[in-house]
Amino acid sequence: MASVSLGVASKLSDLNGRDFLSSADLSSDQVLALFELANQLKNGKRRIDLGNRVLGLIFTKASTRTRVSFQVAMARLGAQTVDLNPQLSQLGRGEPIKDTARVLSRYCDALAIRTFSHADLIQYANWSSIPVINALTDLEHPCQALADFLTMKEALGSIEGKTIAYVGDGNNVANSLMLCGAILGVNVHLSSPKGFEPSSEIIKKAALLSSNSSEIKFFNSPEEAVKDVNAIYTDVWASMGQENEKLERKKAFEGFCVNSKLLDLADENVIVLHCLPAHRGEEISDETIECTASRIFDQAENRLHVQQALLASLLGGL
Ligand code: CP
Ligand code: NVA
Repeated sequence: MASVSLGVASKLSDLNGRDFLSSADLSSDQVLALFELANQLKNGKRRIDLGNRVLGLIFTKASTRTRVSFQVAMARLGAQTVDLNPQLSQLGRGEPIKDTARVLSRYCDALAIRTFSHADLIQYANWSSIPVINALTDLEHPCQALADFLTMKEALGSIEGKTIAYVGDGNNVANSLMLCGAILGVNVHLSSPKGFEPSSEIIKKAALLSSNSSEIKFFNSPEEAVKDVNAIYTDVWASMGQENEKLERKKAFEGFCVNSKLLDLADENVIVLHCLPAHRGEEISDETIECTASRIFDQAENRLHVQQALLASLLGGL
């Protein structure tokens, strides 16, 4: 069995013991090294044993992909997870994060946290003595962005200088996509209805990270945004926690559905991505999810491989 090349191991050695809270936490060398390790793990060319390590899962929002891919990733690394369901723990009864984080740091080796407020995630990280991983907050979804660009790289061969268009809500997924794209030298086109653009702070951060190697550009219409691009990405119009805005958003996002008409304007080898879960017929048409350009299920699979590489790195398993 091949070992992780010295280059990959040394590029990832700095991650040992670190948190992963934002897409901006990694350098382009580290992301590419994670992709190489994920590829080795995916193809059975590398096996990593994390022994008896334990990842605690604190999910205050629903999840299929993130939860299960973390659970399976730890199992494949010979390690374990404990589900710290906030409803069944004292967290649900208001135990402060600073107490919970310090106690859990004495039982677990890392925490994956899905919650609403990004500030709460930062508080966990500040009070924990073990790595904390962002499993989605209202601001970012950095593990998703790793799988997104790994999928794009697999499908297109290389990603530097390529262009991805994000059509839809300027949400957590869009924010992490923009930051990770900027780090990797991928051009990111964005098209959102007025009032639903990504956070201006994140846009500034992405522009700094891209250091002129790639462009972050805004377009009024989805048609302009997707012209000749290599990948088209979308996500739901109403994220978790915004259920009561569903109707209002449906109106505002009229014309922002990723469908075959939009695909026709892109590069002839365009691929389609969606983080899932999808609302078929809203942000993406049913036929687009199922079309030959769709890499959506490869993308979901890659959550597992890239998170396995990430966990191995944060937990010092290389
Ligand atoms: N894409 C994603 O994070 O899916 P889940 O909400 O199912 O985890
Ligand atoms: N933007 C969505 C992503 C779900 C994976 C949400 O936050 O609900």
